[in-house]
Amino acid sequence: MAGSPPVDSQAAGPYERANAGASIMIIAIDGPAASGKGTLARRVAAHFGLPHLDTGLLYRATAAALIDADRSPHDVEAATAAARGLALTDFDEAHLRQRAMGEAASVVAAIPEVRKALAQAQRDFAHRPGGAVLDGRDIGTAICPDADVKLFVTASPATRAQRRALELASRGEKVTYADVLADIEKRDARDSGRADAPLKAASDAHVLDTTRMGPEEAFEAAVAAIEAARAKQIPTAVG
Ligand code: CDP
Repeated sequence: MAGSPPVDSQAAGPYERANAGASIMIIAIDGPAASGKGTLARRVAAHFGLPHLDTGLLYRATAAALIDADRSPHDVEAATAAARGLALTDFDEAHLRQRAMGEAASVVAAIPEVRKALAQAQRDFAHRPGGAVLDGRDIGTAICPDADVKLFVTASPATRAQRRALELASRGEKVTYADVLADIEKRDARDSGRADAPLKAASDAHVLDTTRMGPEEAFEAAVAAIEAARAKQIPTAVG
């Protein structure tokens, strides 16, 4: 595989510079397929000067390793071996973001051994000095229940299908809106219904419904929620 890693290591941003010496900040961003959490996570990470891990790419890469070797994503042994053998760098994003990989990723993601094989690397990433932004399905509930800020980004299935259909078309995939909507509904049901770390908002998550929001508005709402959560944590200096 060739290409960029799922990790955006950002240079120190305005927040980090202004808060040098502040405690670490782990930001967990979860949500269903095509909710816009990936774009939001990248922007939030750049804004706060934190590294970002798109955990969906780990499941997509596991699925791709199977598909590329003509194995079924339902093959527990092969999927577990693929997850254990995954290098956290060297991901071919164009390949991994194909429609078929999203579907296969959600199949391998329902296998507890696969989730276990991928969990420690995600926790290690989150607990880097200074903190990190991770986006996925179970970051606030299972990977980082101790995250400083948890966002759950959602939107109606119709809105998400429109966004994903546009994204896939811009990558050259020939898809219909109806097919993409069907994919999303199937994936939502599988991701929410699995026994191990199902997709759900943590009880202490800030829910951001972006159905009627553009990317800019979603970003501003996310930053406001993060700042508010941080303000509660940082003790006010006594003069
Ligand atoms: O980009 P999109 O929201 O469509 O999906 P993704 O974040 O790339 O994740 C692909 C699939 O991986 C999801 O449908 C989940 O089944 C699985 N996943 C997961 O189970 N846990 C995560 N932390 C991230 C992704």
